[in-house]
Amino acid sequence: MARRLIAGNWKMNGSRTSLSEFEKMVSLISTFPDHADCLVCPPATLISPFKQAAGGRISLGGQTCHCELNGAYTGDLSAEMLAEAGATYVIVGHSERRDEHGETDEIVAAQASAAVRARLIPIICVGESLAEREAGNALEVVARQLEGSIPGSFASDQSFAIAYEPIWAIGTGQVANPPQIEEIHTHMRRLLMKRFGTGSESIPLLYGGSMKPGNAVEILAVKDVDGGLIGGASLKADDFMAIYAAAVS
Ligand code: PGA
Repeated sequence: MARRLIAGNWKMNGSRTSLSEFEKMVSLISTFPDHADCLVCPPATLISPFKQAAGGRISLGGQTCHCELNGAYTGDLSAEMLAEAGATYVIVGHSERRDEHGETDEIVAAQASAAVRARLIPIICVGESLAEREAGNALEVVARQLEGSIPGSFASDQSFAIAYEPIWAIGTGQVANPPQIEEIHTHMRRLLMKRFGTGSESIPLLYGGSMKPGNAVEILAVKDVDGGLIGGASLKADDFMAIYAAAVS
């Protein structure tokens, strides 16, 4: 079984003044057993100052990366730059990047490869839109994204995570229900098993989309859910650590 991972995606939120909230997380996590990994992905400008305050229990990650090492890519950051700032993970293929920045499965796979080149652990995001779900295509969409977004070069011993984030549940307060989550997660586990063999059991499958302290216990109890990718509720130390507590209890 995969070790659980509770990951916070701060998106474009936070500033230097958020350091105190992050420090509160660092202090709170020390009161819980170390039975799950914890990660915060703040805006890239905050990775370095947060790293200095992080202690040993909370890792830091980027929210995307460019697939090239360097070059004329105005505004972009390479995986190596994130690593140098203190990141050990990077989220790739978040639906907000796919939708607003035109990132295709092919680009996401290149970003995941770049992450590995920089020794970062990629968290590859997949998830269907409401229209795709209503048309009965959720399983097929997720399967296609998994197939196309995991680099062909990845072998069974590659360290990476998958986040299933139904687009209609992100930031909407409308969480997917346990049977919906289980259907997708067991499907993803089967597909990964087919591609990578039994080693795939250690790939954490995260759920993301309106996960909160009030629903974390129920979501984390779903078969083949190994953690969460949390947006809004990861900005507050009390909420984020309540979710962490649910993962280690
Ligand atoms: P949310 O975001 O928890 O605010 O719904 C999740 C995500 O987009 O990663």
